[in-house]
This record gives sequence, structure tokens and C-alpha cells, in this order.
Amino acid sequence: MKFFVDTADIAEITDLAETGLLDGVTTNPSLIAKSGRPFREVLADICAAVDGPVSAEVAATEFEAMMAEAKVLSAIADNIVIKVPLTWDGLKACRAITGGGGKVNVTLCFSANQALLAAKAGATFISPFIGRLDDIGADGIDLIAEIRAIYDNYDALKTEVLAASIRTPVSVKQVALAGADVATIPPGVLKALVKHPLTDIGLERFLADWKATGQTIV
Ligand code: G3P
Repeated sequence: MKFFVDTADIAEITDLAETGLLDGVTTNPSLIAKSGRPFREVLADICAAVDGPVSAEVAATEFEAMMAEAKVLSAIADNIVIKVPLTWDGLKACRAITGGGGKVNVTLCFSANQALLAAKAGATFISPFIGRLDDIGADGIDLIAEIRAIYDNYDALKTEVLAASIRTPVSVKQVALAGADVATIPPGVLKALVKHPLTDIGLERFLADWKATGQTIV
């Protein structure tokens, strides 16, 4: 499973990119707003910091305006992926952009039928929001499993399942078990994946025992 980081914070992105474990970045209008920076500048910086795909979302809701915004966003860098909402206009834009050789992330997916439509529209990624489903008492992980099963039924559907709206390390494990191709994860949750108290205790003991030998390796 690929790891994308869900943020527009360039310091966090650079920090995570240095681990060599970061496969891409997703942003949305809320995250760009949170960065407090002009969108062109922050997206250009992110694209320079990572080799992988960087999702940049349109703010328009109608097809023609989405296409005009997609053109501006695509010109920022080669690794920009255009993010469109899961509406008829968004799907139409998805078909037009991918038909022209571009990459599209269809976002705000909350049902398996929506994911089926996005795949038929040629989406590169579909973004089911698991946390927001959990928020209303539905089951986000079930949705990932359903989409995985549907896509696996048809060789023609090449869309990657990008699990989004992840808030906990447990959700990362669950979406991996359910067969997501990608998880987009907030920086804090991504960093928390390495943590286990028994790792810390074990390391402390090994270091104490090693120190007692008086030896050095180099
Ligand atoms: O990037 C979209 C998604 O990951 C948002 O997550 O926590 O605002 O539901 P959240």
C-alpha cells in the first residue's frame, strides 16, 4: 500500500519525504486555506519536495470552470493530479482530463456506486472518506472493502482505491487489510505508525546491556 500525506504543510512534507517512505501528497481547499499561503506557491513547493503525485483540488463546481481551473493547476508541475468532487460535472471533467492524458483523483466518495461511476469515468484514484462515514455511524472500512471487491470484478476498472479521511493508526491497518491501494494520512498519524511502547522498552534494555560490555562497533 502506498502512503500519501494529507497536508499542505511543506515542513511536514519535507520531513516525511526524507524517510523515503512517502509516495505522494493530497491537498484539498481546506488544507490549502490552513497553510495560509497562495495556492500556486504552496503547490509548487510541494511538487518540488516529492517525486510522487500531488493532488490539487478544483474550487469550481461546473464543468467548463473545472476544466479552466484544471488547466491552471496542471501547469504548476508535472506531478499534479487534478482532484474533482464526485458530482456529474466532476465525473465529466474526470473523463475529459484523463481522456487527454491527465491524472484525476475523484474526491468526496461515500458510496460504492459513486466509486463505480468514478472508475467508469477513468479516474486515476477514487477517494472514499472513511472517517467522515464513521462520524455519522456508518462504516468507512466496509466501503473500502466493497469498492475493492467491485473493482476486482472487472479488469477494465483500473482506478486505485485511495483511502482518505483517516484519523487513527488503527484505520491505516484496517484500510490495508481491506485492500486499499493507497492511504492518505495526516502527518501526525503517519508519524505515530512507528510507535510501540515495547519497541522503546526493548531498545532501552539492549542499549543498557551493550553499554555494560564496554564495546563499540565502530
Ligand atoms: O483530504 C481529504 C480528507 O482526507 C479529509 O479528512 O479528517 O477532514 O475528514 P477529514
